[in-house]
Amino acid sequence: MALAYCNGSFIQSDEPAVPIDERGHQFGDGVYEVIRVYQGRPFMLDEHLDRLFKSAAAIRLEIGHDGESLKRIIGELTQKSGLSDLDLYVQATRGIAPRNHLFPACPASVSMTAKPFREIPADARAAGISVMLHPDERWLNCWIKSLNLLPNILAKQAASERGCLEAVLVRDGQVTEGTSSNVYMVKDGAIRTAPLSNQILAGITRMAVQRIAHELRIPFIEQSFTPEELRQADEAFITSTTTEVMPVVRFEDGSLVRDGKPGPVARALYERFRAMTGQD
Ligand SMILES: Cc1ncc(COP(=O)(O)O)c(C=O)c1O
Repeated sequence: MALAYCNGSFIQSDEPAVPIDERGHQFGDGVYEVIRVYQGRPFMLDEHLDRLFKSAAAIRLEIGHDGESLKRIIGELTQKSGLSDLDLYVQATRGIAPRNHLFPACPASVSMTAKPFREIPADARAAGISVMLHPDERWLNCWIKSLNLLPNILAKQAASERGCLEAVLVRDGQVTEGTSSNVYMVKDGAIRTAPLSNQILAGITRMAVQRIAHELRIPFIEQSFTPEELRQADEAFITSTTTEVMPVVRFEDGSLVRDGKPGPVARALYERFRAMTGQD
């Protein structure tokens, strides 16, 4: 069972806490963050909270807590959970009010859950993952980490039914990102990924990988690429808070990225990422 926080109380995550009229439940009217805590320390917490406040401002939501207050709750939840390595979800919604599309005059709802790491088995990580190319059917504000994830859910389910771990989304002939990850290709020693725009989420792991690439003197080019370029890449990988740096080795039709084995650039980034997060 995971420990949770809901509007001032610490509870078990299976305890009823969200009334029917909560707007996250009714409309998905809210924003969220996923933060990984390594050995009791939240990784890049300032960056996550900064993105949370930007997402909230973009939907005109006043969270009712400042960064220090959220940090205090995150610290308390982590400590009470008794876990040192955990995935911490923070959700902020437009509160609890009778159903009406218009903004209610009520405070925001803030909830969190602290779950043990969903560790990816070492052999699965060593083998790399398969991905499915899928049309990007989302709205044009993908930089907002909104609770509305229906297109992401449908694409990821379709990918899973084809034996793939992630769907790589394609809009106007260009790869944007994954359903819950950023997507990269490597060609001639340079990393390429879609530029920050309204079409992708500015991943915190993307930011970490960009810093690592800079340190390792690996060119990091923010330029979109086509599915065909991805298929012809020397390497491909995805990043996210929960998958960290994950090599992509195969497509849904069975075709391989290069020789179908994780490549040296993804490996180097992952090793450095593990060191950054104190996992070595
Ligand atoms: C659509 C989307 N893109 C990218 C990411 C990666 O972001 P981060 O590295 O901050 O987890 C996520 C994470 O859930 C996501 O949902």
